[in-house]
Amino acid sequence: MPAQTDPRLDLDDIQGDVLVGLQKNAEMFMFFRIADVAGFKMLLRQHIASRLTSTRRVLDRERVAARERLQGPRFTHPWESLNLAFTKDGLDRLLGPGRPLLDSGFERGADHPDTIAALNDPPVASWLPAFRSGRIDGAFLLAGPNRRFVDTQASHLLSMLSGIVTAVYSEIGQVRPGRERGHEHFGFLDGISQPAIRGLTRPSRRHHGSDQVLPGQDAIWPGEFVYGYPMQDPHAADQPGPIAAPPAVWARNGSYMVVRRLEQLVPEFRAFVAAEAKRLGMYPALLGSRLVGRWQSGAPLELAPLDDNPRIGAEPMRNNDFDYRDDPFQRRCPYAAHIRKANPRDDPPRGTAESLRHRIVRAAIPFGPEVGPGETRTEHSRGLIFVCYQIDIGRQFEFIQRRYADNPDFVDGKTRPDTGQPVHPGYDPIIGQAPGNGERSMDEPVPNYPTGNRRSSLNLMQQFVIPTASSYLFVPSISAVRTALSAAG
Ligand code: HEM
Repeated sequence: MPAQTDPRLDLDDIQGDVLVGLQKNAEMFMFFRIADVAGFKMLLRQHIASRLTSTRRVLDRERVAARERLQGPRFTHPWESLNLAFTKDGLDRLLGPGRPLLDSGFERGADHPDTIAALNDPPVASWLPAFRSGRIDGAFLLAGPNRRFVDTQASHLLSMLSGIVTAVYSEIGQVRPGRERGHEHFGFLDGISQPAIRGLTRPSRRHHGSDQVLPGQDAIWPGEFVYGYPMQDPHAADQPGPIAAPPAVWARNGSYMVVRRLEQLVPEFRAFVAAEAKRLGMYPALLGSRLVGRWQSGAPLELAPLDDNPRIGAEPMRNNDFDYRDDPFQRRCPYAAHIRKANPRDDPPRGTAESLRHRIVRAAIPFGPEVGPGETRTEHSRGLIFVCYQIDIGRQFEFIQRRYADNPDFVDGKTRPDTGQPVHPGYDPIIGQAPGNGERSMDEPVPNYPTGNRRSSLNLMQQFVIPTASSYLFVPSISAVRTALSAAG
C-alpha cells in the first residue's frame, strides 16, 4: 500500500512490464516493421490498446500468485500478457518526422556509432542480421506460462497483423528448468535486487537517510522510470525531486526500455573459473561468487563472505540487507564484482543519494537451451535477454555500463589498508567491456577476509558475455496507444 504522501500512479495506464514485470515462464520479443501505417493505427485503436497488460492487472495477478506461492513455486496460470514499445523509427512512422523529440539516448539509438563507442559494444556488423540492416519500428512482448502458449499467442497476433506489420526478429526467453528456475545461465539466482517504487509500495523502515521497503531495498521516486512523476532529489534520497516532465502530452506514463541480447559463453566461463580458482588456490564456487558479488544461491558476499549460505539467498528479508560502508577494503566483496559495480549503494563518493540516480528496473529472461553433457565449448546460442526500464537512458542504463562496469577506476577513491596506495578496481567481470575488446582485469579475486593483505588480480582473458543485438525503445502509456499514436494522420 502506498503512503498518503506518495505520488498516485496511473496503474491502468502504465504498461505492466515497466514497474512490476509481466508474469512469465516464457516471453517472446517480437521485433517488427510497420508496412501499412494506416492499417496499423486502426488495429492499435480497435484491438491492441485494449489488450495491453496494465500495471494494475499485473499487480492483481501478483497478489493471486503470491497467495499460491505459499503452496509451491510454480506459475502455471494461463495468463496472457502483451506489452508494446516503439523505436524512434516507429514513432517517426506513426507521428511523422515533425514529432517532438524524446530522450537524447533514445533518439541516438543503440546502433549509433557514438553509442557503440561509448559502451565499448562490439561493432554492429557482428550483431544478428536483423539488427544490422533494415528498420525496426517496435517490439511486442508476449508473456505466458510456457513456450507453446506464447507461440500460439504470437501466431494469433501475427495473423491479425498480416500485411500490416512484418516480423523482423523473434526470440523466446524462458525461465530455466527445475532447480535452476530464477537463475541465469552462469548459475546465479537473478532478479533479487530491484528498486521499490514509491506509490506502489510503502516504505517500512529508515536506513542511513533513505526509505526502504524490504531491508536493503531503497524506495525510489517513480519519475526515475515513468514520465509525469517526481524523480529523485540527488541530495536527499527521501525527498521528491523535480517532476520528470513528458516531452509531449502523450508521453506521460511512458518509459524507456533497453533490450540487449547478451550471449553467455557458459562452458568457457565454467572452465575459466575452475582453472583460475586452481591457480589462485581457492575453490571455484568462491571465485565465481567474487565475480558476481553473490553466491549462486543469491546469498550476498557482504553477508556470507567465505561460504555460501543458501538460507540467506532464499530469504527476501535478508538477501538484500547490506551496503558497502562496512567493507571499505573489499575484504568481503570485490569493488569490481558485478553487483557492486552495477549498484554501488553507499560506495560512491557522494553516497546513496548519488547511486539512486542511476537505478533501473530490470526484467530480463534467459534464452537458449541448457548446456548439454558433452558441450565443453559453446555450441548453441544462449544467454540473457536483458531488459531494463528508466526515464533517461544516458543517466541510467548507459551510465551503469559506461561509468561503472566499463570503467576500471570505478569505484574511485579507494586505498590499500596496509600501504594507503590507491586501488584500481578493474572491470566488471560479467558485463564490463574494454575499448576494442581489449584486455580486462579485476582486483582482488582472493578474499582478504577477515584480515590479510595478499594482493591478487585476475586477468579476464576473454568476454564471457557478448552483446549480439541492442535496441532502445519507448513504452508508451496505454492511453497514448489508443489516442495520439493511433490517430489518423
Ligand atoms: C548476461 C548478462 C548478465 C548477467 C549474467 C547478470 C547477472 C546478475 C546477477 C546474478 C545479479 C544478482 C541478482 C540480483 O541482485 O538481482 C545481477 C544484479 C544486477 N545486475 Fe546483472 N547481469 C547481467 C547483465 C546486466 C546488465 C547489462 C546490467 C546493466 C547495465 C545489469 C545490472 C544489474 C543490476 C543493477 C543488478 C542489481 C545490483 C544490486 O542492486 O545489488 N546486469 N545481475
